[in-house]
Amino acid sequence: MDYSSLKLPNHVGIIVDGNGRWALERGLSRSKGHEAGFNNVKKLGRYIFSRGINYVSAYLFSTENFKRSEMEVNFLMNLFATRMEEILEFCHEDKIKIVVSGRKERLSSKIIKVMERLEEETKNYDKVFNLCFNYGSHAEIIDATKKIVNDVNDGKLDIDNLDESIYSKYLYQDLPPIDFLIRTSGEMRLSNFMLWQVSYAEFYFPKVYFPDFDENEFDKAIVEYTSRDRRFGGINYENKSN
Ligand code: IPE
Ligand code: IPE
Ligand code: MG
Repeated sequence: MDYSSLKLPNHVGIIVDGNGRWALERGLSRSKGHEAGFNNVKKLGRYIFSRGINYVSAYLFSTENFKRSEMEVNFLMNLFATRMEEILEFCHEDKIKIVVSGRKERLSSKIIKVMERLEEETKNYDKVFNLCFNYGSHAEIIDATKKIVNDVNDGKLDIDNLDESIYSKYLYQDLPPIDFLIRTSGEMRLSNFMLWQVSYAEFYFPKVYFPDFDENEFDKAIVEYTSRDRRFGGINYENKSN
């Protein structure tokens, strides 16, 4: 699809969901669903950036996902530890910076090393692929608040100066707001994803499971996004229906 005349979102958030159900419907194990999901993160990620979008945040593993069976958690950890570097290939080719959001606690040193390598190798690029891993929005807000209190106590920050833009610098990554949030699989909730950043996002909940959310599905999503009237509390007077 030709995107050149469209008003695109600057930052797209994706809640990767439905990998397990995708696999179970095919008589496969949930692990196969996670593999298919990971393959799609690479393919879809590349496509989205190629269409001219500057920021993508993908929710890959939540702080709550540790509640799953030990087997599933271990599988996911191992998947990311061994395959995360595959994302590097297109990020170098297409000049995309990888950043990681989440807590390091409970992650193996192997996974932390891989993440640090991805961030280090791509740090000079401009477009941003934000991988949310062991991520929870409440954890992020608490972690930011602790850093703010420390800086206030150390005299590095005057509390009277704290505003939205300064607060944002204390989050895991200082990113522009999410304009368009997609959650696959038909679930209509945020599950603790980037609550600060989605405050004015347009939401889109396609029924399709994440491994099937392909380029064509993304094109449909963008068409839907362009039909939304984003008012931000104001009124678009040029829109006759208002
Ligand atoms: C998303 O797929 C991947 C992760 C949350 C890690 P799910 O594993 O949540 O798949 P469903 O929702 O059980 O189908
Ligand atoms: C949200 O999906 C977390 C990620 C996409 C990483 P879940 O499948 O874990 O969310 P719930 O349990 O349905 O809310
Ligand atoms: Mg799920």
